[in-house]
Amino acid sequence: MSRRKILVTSALPYANGDIHIGHLVEYIQSDVWVRFQKLRGEDCRYFCADDTHGAAITISAKKKGISEEEFIADVWKSHTEDFRGFDVCFDNYGSTNSPQTKKICEEIWEKLKKADLIVQREIEQFYDPVEKRFLADRFIKGTCPKCGRKEQYGDSCECGAVYSPLDLIEPHSAISGAKLELRKANHLFVDIEKAHDFLSEWVSSSDALQPEIANYLKAQFLSDALRPWDVSRPAPYFGFKIPDSPDNYWYVWYDAPIGYIGSTAQWCEQNNENLDDWWRDPNTEIHHFIGKDITYFHTLFWPTTLKTAGFNLPKKVHIHGFLTVDGEKMSKSKGTFILARTYLKHLDPSYLRYFFSSKTSGHVDDLDLNLEEMETKVNADVVGVIVNLASRTAKFATMTGLAETYPDDGGLFEQAAALSDEIAAAYEVCDFAKAIKLILECGYRANQYVANNEPWNLKKEWARLEADESASPEARLSARTKLQNVVTVSLNLFRQIVVYLAPVLPDLARKTEQLLNTPIKNWDDVKSKILGTVVNEYSYMMTRVPKEGILAMLEESKEANTVNSTATTEEEQSVETNKWNDTAQNLIDEPIAETITIDDFAKVDLRIGRIIEAEQVKEARKLLRLRISLGGAETRQVFAGIKAAYPEPEKLIGRLVAFVANLQPRQMKFGLSEGMIVAAGPGGPDVFVLSPDEGAQPGMRLH
Ligand code: 2FM
Ligand code: ZN
Repeated sequence: MSRRKILVTSALPYANGDIHIGHLVEYIQSDVWVRFQKLRGEDCRYFCADDTHGAAITISAKKKGISEEEFIADVWKSHTEDFRGFDVCFDNYGSTNSPQTKKICEEIWEKLKKADLIVQREIEQFYDPVEKRFLADRFIKGTCPKCGRKEQYGDSCECGAVYSPLDLIEPHSAISGAKLELRKANHLFVDIEKAHDFLSEWVSSSDALQPEIANYLKAQFLSDALRPWDVSRPAPYFGFKIPDSPDNYWYVWYDAPIGYIGSTAQWCEQNNENLDDWWRDPNTEIHHFIGKDITYFHTLFWPTTLKTAGFNLPKKVHIHGFLTVDGEKMSKSKGTFILARTYLKHLDPSYLRYFFSSKTSGHVDDLDLNLEEMETKVNADVVGVIVNLASRTAKFATMTGLAETYPDDGGLFEQAAALSDEIAAAYEVCDFAKAIKLILECGYRANQYVANNEPWNLKKEWARLEADESASPEARLSARTKLQNVVTVSLNLFRQIVVYLAPVLPDLARKTEQLLNTPIKNWDDVKSKILGTVVNEYSYMMTRVPKEGILAMLEESKEANTVNSTATTEEEQSVETNKWNDTAQNLIDEPIAETITIDDFAKVDLRIGRIIEAEQVKEARKLLRLRISLGGAETRQVFAGIKAAYPEPEKLIGRLVAFVANLQPRQMKFGLSEGMIVAAGPGGPDVFVLSPDEGAQPGMRLH
């Protein structure tokens, strides 16, 4: 079979923030996938770059007193060092501020214009007369029109109000403090609605998207007309000038994904390759790895751009969830906003590569880094099972070398080799968790073999015979051979596991190559035994996760995080989110239901109720029994599935809730349920009972 040609990208990190462990979820996932493909012998290349444009870069550079170019060059250096530290190995790591990206931006622009997709519109925006620039919402401050709080951002207030900057009282620049002027400017838009049919078709039938993502796009975007996409920003702006609109620059999100092609082009120039072979040959597979927050750009705008400009459409957009640490958003105050660099000072990157991979299933779910769990898992699996195989046997093998012929191992080597296709299939769909599970099973069996054959006792027996002058040379040889056979099997089984795990743990693979004097070159190495070779002196391969390392990392993260916040650009560049950065996951998990009429809604009689009794239903796993007062003598009994979320039900007593008052009563095992309280969340401990603002009273109807 011919080699697959595979081009892989991961999202280009912003050039005004450091790489942190949240970023690494994606880079580790894609790097593992790329290493797997390369090990399989596919012609796979991995490209990325810094995302360098936008007003935020200018502001950050100014703060440091350097030019934008100097600023992004420093960040490039620091990003590439961080990636190297985690063994994330790109074929090329470029910058969007490159001649290659600029040229492709221009080519694509021409194609978009020819396809009649570019339209011009005048819009009104606040202008800072001191800085002499238009300002994005987050660079505008003023008094909240709702509560009167001063110094609130242009789009929302601490009180929860969300508004347009035009509604702010006394709007002024967050950069210069100047009073703002409202000015008109011409912006250029991509009229993406014209690609609606194409996108609907691609989303539904290309197989490029995870099903939950396809559903989300259909429900949230494709069910309506697509709004034109504003792709220009008036000067001054750090970016590329739009050739036929000289006072305008391309918005950073226009050139960011084009940076994927720009980075490939740079690599092509350096390696004598042809760009079209990678981006236009229909046999080349393009795989993008991204986080769910940027789904919109990569699954609507980007395919439209690619199609219009005659590039390949992605074969797959692999979308992952966010990272939480110990179940919560990364937090600077708790020290869980951990920079890549801080991690590397205290812990081995293999720990994180292994842990993240063991949690990666190829779905959009968030990934939780529980540091204790990481410690237990790495210690148990990698150190306790895998490295243990080598550490218990290698020193004997250094004395004996490996046998010339492979001894009888009861079929263990063949059994592990037979898993090759199943493990490969799991890697292919990014179900690294499954691959690791299968690999670990090989590890358990191999350890059992070592335990049963006790090489340490064989060594003792051999040493005893060597010291015993009356022992015959045959007896000595036989004892040595027995030991050699056992270590030969053990180390071959060990190597097989290391080959399977090489995409996840490249450092372990390198150390194993060194130990056994044999390179690991191909996935099929799991089927070939190494025999007759010298085994080098064993030196440590991986130590247990040091608790003090974790603690020191958390401690340092509390202090270290005053640098380079990424908030600025994320906000400025985000189209569909606001400063709250709320996740789209809930809508992905459960898209908004079909439209109903106001009459349909009126059928549901929602009332304010007060919880006056609350207790656990002992026999039921999930239920609390509540009595709800609707005012006066009117009460209802309900059984609510909220036990896990409210383990101390008495604390609910007195609380006002929203209550469905006209739901048909239902006879349950524990009694009659006469309504339903309104709660949000997926279930289990994540259920949140809704309460009204102060002033509401039992019996009031919700409209
Ligand atoms: O969300 C981000 O971090 C962006 N800098 C990602 C850009 S990805 C691609 F389109 F370049
Ligand atoms: Zn307010």
